[in-house]
Amino acid sequence: AEPLKVALAGLGTVGGGVIRLIDANRALIERRAGRPIEIVAVSARDRGKDRGVDISRFQWVDDMTALGELSGADVVVELIGGSDGPALTLARNTLKSGKAFVTANKAMIAHHGVDLARLADEKDIPLKFEAAVAGGIPVIKGLREGAAANEIMRVYGILNGTCNYILTTMEKDGRDFAEVLAEAQALGYAESDPSFDIDGVDAAHKLSILASLAFGSELDFAGVAATGIRHVIAADIFEAAQLGFRVRLVGVAEANGGGLFQRVHPCLVPISHPLAHVAGSLNAVVAEGNFVGRLFFQGAGAGDGPTASAVVADLIDVARNEYGPAFAMPVASLAQPGRADAGER
Ligand code: HSE
Repeated sequence: AEPLKVALAGLGTVGGGVIRLIDANRALIERRAGRPIEIVAVSARDRGKDRGVDISRFQWVDDMTALGELSGADVVVELIGGSDGPALTLARNTLKSGKAFVTANKAMIAHHGVDLARLADEKDIPLKFEAAVAGGIPVIKGLREGAAANEIMRVYGILNGTCNYILTTMEKDGRDFAEVLAEAQALGYAESDPSFDIDGVDAAHKLSILASLAFGSELDFAGVAATGIRHVIAADIFEAAQLGFRVRLVGVAEANGGGLFQRVHPCLVPISHPLAHVAGSLNAVVAEGNFVGRLFFQGAGAGDGPTASAVVADLIDVARNEYGPAFAMPVASLAQPGRADAGER
C-alpha cells in the first residue's frame, strides 16, 4: 500500500523521539496502520545542530511555515511549540492546503483549537493532538472515544510533570521550592518559559483542552483560574502530611448548572486518593462518567519516548483514515460555556 508521507517541523527532544520510534517500530507500525509511515521531510530553526539522529535522508525545507506545500507530504507534524508564531502559521497553511495536521502543541490548541478545528472540520481532514495533553497518556482518545457514551461530570488531574517532580521531591527531602526548581528544570521537561510550569499556565492549557473534550464545550482557556506552586514551602507539605494529605498541583474542570468551572491550584489530596501516589514527573487524569464510573489514567506526561508515542498513534489513525471531528463533536455543536467561577476572577 501507499505509504503515509510525513513532514516533521521541529527537531527538538520530541522530534528526535518520533524519528527514533518510527525507525525502531517500523514493521509493527506498518501492520497496525495498514501501510508504511515514512518521514519524507523535516524542518527546524537550525539545520546543522547535532541531534543524535540522521536527518540527511530526509528532504530539508527552509521555510517551516510552508512545510506541507513544499514537501509533498500527506500530513504535517508540528513540534515547534508556542501558541502563535510559526507553529500557528504552519497549522493554518497546512489545514488550508487540505493536509492532515498532528501537533503536540498544547498552548496553540488551548488558544486557537476551535479556529483550527473549524478549518479541519470544514474540509473533513484530521487535526490531531493526543501529545498535547499529558504526553504519552492516551487521554484524548480515552475521553473522546473511550468515554464517548458517557456524560462526564468532572475531569481533574496532575497535568504538569515539572511541578509534580518539585512537590514530590520537596515532600521526600524536606527541601524548599527554590532549591528543587533547578533540578526539575535539568530533567528537560520544563517549558521554554519556566513560569508556564510553576505558575500553572501549562496545566491550564491542558485542562482547557480536557474540559472541552469532556463536556463538549467550546475551549475556554481564558476561563481557567490558575495559581501555581511558587509559594508552597516545605513546612506546608509537612503540615499537610500530619493531617493525612499530600500537596499536588491539580487542575479541575467541572460542568455544573450549565456553567463551566476550571481551576488549577495546589491542592490538599487525601492520602487515600490515587492522585496522592502519582510520583515524580508522572501525570495522571481522572474522569468521572455517569455510566463508566471513575477512570484513572496515569503515565509519563513528557519526554521524548512517551510524547513520540502519542504523536505516532495519531499518525496511525491518519494512515488508517480513522478520525472524526477534531474535538468530541463538530465545532458547530460545541456549547458555549458559562463561567461558574466568573464572580471570583
Ligand atoms: N513542561 C511540561 C511538564 C512538559 O512539565 O509537564 C509536558 O507538557
